[in-house]
Amino acid sequence: MSFQSSNTRTLKIAIDGPAGAGKSTVAREIARRLNLKYLDTGAMYRAITLKLYRARISLDDLEAIAELLENTALDVTADQRVLLDGEDVTAEIRKPYVNNLVSPVSTIPLVRRKLVQMQQAIAARSRGIVMDGRDIGTRVLPDADLKVYLDATLAERARRRFKEQLERNIHLTFEEVEAELKERDRIDSERADSPLTVAADACVIDTTDLTFEEVVAKIMSLISGRVKQR
Ligand code: DC
Repeated sequence: MSFQSSNTRTLKIAIDGPAGAGKSTVAREIARRLNLKYLDTGAMYRAITLKLYRARISLDDLEAIAELLENTALDVTADQRVLLDGEDVTAEIRKPYVNNLVSPVSTIPLVRRKLVQMQQAIAARSRGIVMDGRDIGTRVLPDADLKVYLDATLAERARRRFKEQLERNIHLTFEEVEAELKERDRIDSERADSPLTVAADACVIDTTDLTFEEVVAKIMSLISGRVKQR
């Protein structure tokens, strides 16, 4: 990287996009290269979903949801372990039953308000952060130095997710993975409270025909341009 690392210290980078677009692997690599904190905000929605599921709380019982949120300790460690009330739920939150429930849970304004507050507090405490999610550029970090919207065709995203699930020993058919992504896209983009949309000032990157390295290189060059302007 040609610029001084001190210039990158306070950078805030928002990476949004639909499920399976490659956000988390790319965001983690950008954070590693720039020595910034990385936060996977989807993992936070997943952890709350797991807790609501275990507590058998109905998604329209707002009083119970408010109380649960009030009494939840959620922590994402530097090595990306997700701790829910002290329990390591990193693997559990990637399971199909959480995949199927997380988008409906994420439509609940109470849940969003709580998690957005936590995410903004984490960003404020950090000396530079890369965050990925659905509403980072539009809601969580509206003043981010760089906003990237990563996209890819549904078929390509399903191919990537299918491979990832197999590696995790989760056996779903390609059609099941594709249907789940399609339904999550629909709920995430149609919800009333901060839906998945492209921020007006975001750089859209279609990753369908790009390698991981190419995506990372494109973002690094965008960052380099922004840093020079500062
Ligand atoms: O990135 P992911 O697939 O782990 O996210 C899981 C779900 O969480 C996603 O379908 C919608 C929700 N989400 C959200 O609403 N806002 C975010 N910033 C991140 C995730």
